[in-house]
Amino acid sequence: MHPEVLLSASAITKSYDGVHALNRASFELRAGEVHALIGENGAGKSTLIKIITGALEADEGELRIKGEVISHNSPGLAKARGIAAIYQQPALFPELTVAENITMGLENSRALSRVDWQFRKKRAKDLLARVEADINPDTEASALSMPQQQLAEIARALGAQAEVLILDEPTASLSEKDVTHLFGVLRQLRSEGVGIIYISHRLEELPVIADRVTVLRDGCTVATHSMGEIDRQQLIQLMVGRELSTVFPKRQVAIGSDVLELRGLGCSTNGIHEVNLTIHAGEVVGLAGLVGAGRTELARTIFGLEPADKGEIRLDGRPVRIQSPAEAIKARIAYLPEDRRRHGVIPEMPLDANITLASLERLSRFGSLNFSRERELAVEYTQRMGIRADGIFSPVATLSGGNQQKVALSRWLATGPRILVFDEPTQGIDVGSKSEIHGLMVDLASQGVAILMISSELPEILGMSDRIAVMHKGTIKAIIDRAQATQQRVLDLALGRGGAEC
Ligand SMILES: Nc1ncnc2c1ncn2[C@@H]1O[C@H](COP(=O)(O)OP(=O)(O)OP(=O)(O)O)[C@@H](O)[C@H]1O
Ligand SMILES: [Mg+2]
Repeated sequence: MHPEVLLSASAITKSYDGVHALNRASFELRAGEVHALIGENGAGKSTLIKIITGALEADEGELRIKGEVISHNSPGLAKARGIAAIYQQPALFPELTVAENITMGLENSRALSRVDWQFRKKRAKDLLARVEADINPDTEASALSMPQQQLAEIARALGAQAEVLILDEPTASLSEKDVTHLFGVLRQLRSEGVGIIYISHRLEELPVIADRVTVLRDGCTVATHSMGEIDRQQLIQLMVGRELSTVFPKRQVAIGSDVLELRGLGCSTNGIHEVNLTIHAGEVVGLAGLVGAGRTELARTIFGLEPADKGEIRLDGRPVRIQSPAEAIKARIAYLPEDRRRHGVIPEMPLDANITLASLERLSRFGSLNFSRERELAVEYTQRMGIRADGIFSPVATLSGGNQQKVALSRWLATGPRILVFDEPTQGIDVGSKSEIHGLMVDLASQGVAILMISSELPEILGMSDRIAVMHKGTIKAIIDRAQATQQRVLDLALGRGGAEC
């Protein structure tokens, strides 16, 4: 065994009702390395993490921490052994301050007999400084942005003297700048000897941050390599077990009449203003911009969640009032929100009900639901989207993160929309399924659906859009044709340089 091995998991098996989530999977983490853990949606990554952090018990296999065999694990024990995990959804207590969140539990480790606030604040401040976070410890956690929450969580992990830091898809909703910052912090921790397990579907990040990579497929470990000896194409092949084209499947489809038109649209509650945009039948308009530019806000206004109080929305040339999601659904507008893990699915309900939830009206006649049609629709989407589940009656809570997202996506596609607003449609989705979803978008466009796609991934924006609208400070700064768009140009516009090309 390598002398610096912090953690090793060997031949770990975990199954649910006879189905293997992990099948003799193995993984090893050394001190001072960033070890990426990758695999398709449902491959078993989060399950392995949960076993390491004591949230789940393995059926079989051996877990060792610094050489010591762990016969009993629990979240408390794992924490005491120096293991800290940060999930995609930060887990701070929203109504407590940052200092309270970071120093929670410290009294045990330092045997403080009373709550020493001065000490706590000082400690929180030092820890925040170590992750170079510009955050006041007295702020309530609920007031922090997503990247700030993540940094606060890392600070908390450092406070607990974590030697093993686990990040499950940390960058899915971070801007470039925040990703750069996070990587800087991770490198610093690595140089201090912390071992970091890094889960991500963004393969392009791996050469930048990872030292080694382990690939899981169907619950088995298929390979561990040092990053220098493997390229992206080989990683994809290991993940999906076959060659895969990663070229965007965009086809030119006939662009039809105006479907959605926004004229001088504004909403004082969310700050968007003077938005002018027309989307035609068959067209994909990519909505680019930095985090905070107002892209999600615009989507929420179109869908009636934060109704417009200025300007107008026109459908097929006629002005409409959209004051609520119900009115938007009636107008056959579908909206896939970004934060799908929280808003996209109803975890305790089965797959079929989740998929057909927004289509019930269409599936009912004279007030009664056509169950066989409901089932057909659920089966159709489960197959089309390649959703990995035990069957259409499994509760969505039992699906992996990426598969839950596919369920959320299916729900809206199943409504037969005319206008689709997608907020980060492929975030958290593995490479194979990503190109399937892109293919599906093109199919929908060819059937005349008008699509507005928000994405922070410029290759996705450039690869899938007919036109690109760039937002900056709450308004659309420029609209450019796909032929004229380059990564640099879009970035410049998003940063507020140049413009006036509408
Ligand atoms: N409570 C459960 N009951 C039944 N099956 C489960 C349960 N939890 C997880 N699974 C199954 O275990 C498998 C592995 O899931 P896991 O969440 O580990 O995948 P993942 O690699 O993290 O995927 P993703 O990239 O989508 O997050 C999946 O097929 C999932 O459906
Ligand atoms: Mg997962």
